[in-house]
Amino acid sequence: MRAVPIPEAMLEPAFDPAGAARDAIGAGLRAEKGLNVRHGTILTLEGINVSFDGFKALTDLNLYIGVGELRCIIGPNGAGKTTMMDVITGKTRPDSGMAYFGETLDLTHMSEVQIAQSGIGRKFQKPTVFEALSVFENLELAQKTNKSVWASLRAKMTGEQRDRIDEVLTTIRLETARQRPAGLLSHGQKQFLEIGMLLMQDPQLLLLDEPVAGMTDAETEFTAQLFKSLARKHSLMVVEHDMGFVGSIADHVTVLHQGSVLAEGSLNEVQADERVIEVYLGR
Ligand SMILES: Nc1ncnc2c1ncn2[C@@H]1O[C@H](COP(=O)(O)OP(=O)(O)O)[C@@H](O)[C@H]1O
Ligand SMILES: [Mg+2]
Repeated sequence: MRAVPIPEAMLEPAFDPAGAARDAIGAGLRAEKGLNVRHGTILTLEGINVSFDGFKALTDLNLYIGVGELRCIIGPNGAGKTTMMDVITGKTRPDSGMAYFGETLDLTHMSEVQIAQSGIGRKFQKPTVFEALSVFENLELAQKTNKSVWASLRAKMTGEQRDRIDEVLTTIRLETARQRPAGLLSHGQKQFLEIGMLLMQDPQLLLLDEPVAGMTDAETEFTAQLFKSLARKHSLMVVEHDMGFVGSIADHVTVLHQGSVLAEGSLNEVQADERVIEVYLGR
């Protein structure tokens, strides 16, 4: 009998959705430690189609994000940027196409909770912090998502957990506001707190939808520094219209238009592309 070589991918432990449902936290840790990024690609979208009542929001979308990359996504309103994030996070199921986190996690067959626990964190436009709780308590809650709010706040914290919160407080520059109720923070500070809450989960891929909308210039500048400091250790996908901001952070820019990739390259390259000028940047 002819020996058939077993593809390397088949030797990988497969993600087990049934097991994950039984022991979601354990599965999350296992998936994160075991995330296979052998080919240097953390996210693969291939041939993704999404339609809403016959309207095509995404059309044969192909997109690849490298490990540790900071990718910016630009494009006109309605281009499908948010829908793409919905597909990655399991909020929207594509009609067809492949979506993989690392080499082996098939995002189209995982629940939103499983996807979050496997290491994909998402920040929406509007901050969703617990306004009545302090900055510190918000981070503490984000660290213990497996418990109810009150059980989490009553549970004893380890020194290690406290150190991690301090570290994140420094990263998001809210050390001196740690005891302040989150409801009293500025809009920008609430955004930083929410990024901090994502970081408590130590995600490998962060999705950020229009993070600097409504921020002051100083806050926007700090966000740029923050994202640059997070890249390499994490992979980031940032949707943003502010070209100054995009220019200051992006390794690589993808232009979406009518649900597909119109252009990809450095910001200078895509800004010089006639088709991009036509549909997005204007003359
Ligand atoms: N749940 C939905 N139902 C119907 N249409 C939708 C839905 N979500 C998005 N769309 C449509 O899909 C297109 C892409 O939207 P979206 O992904 O939000 O674009 P972007 O974020 O690039 O502005 C838009 O025309 C929008 O109206
Ligand atoms: Mg959007």
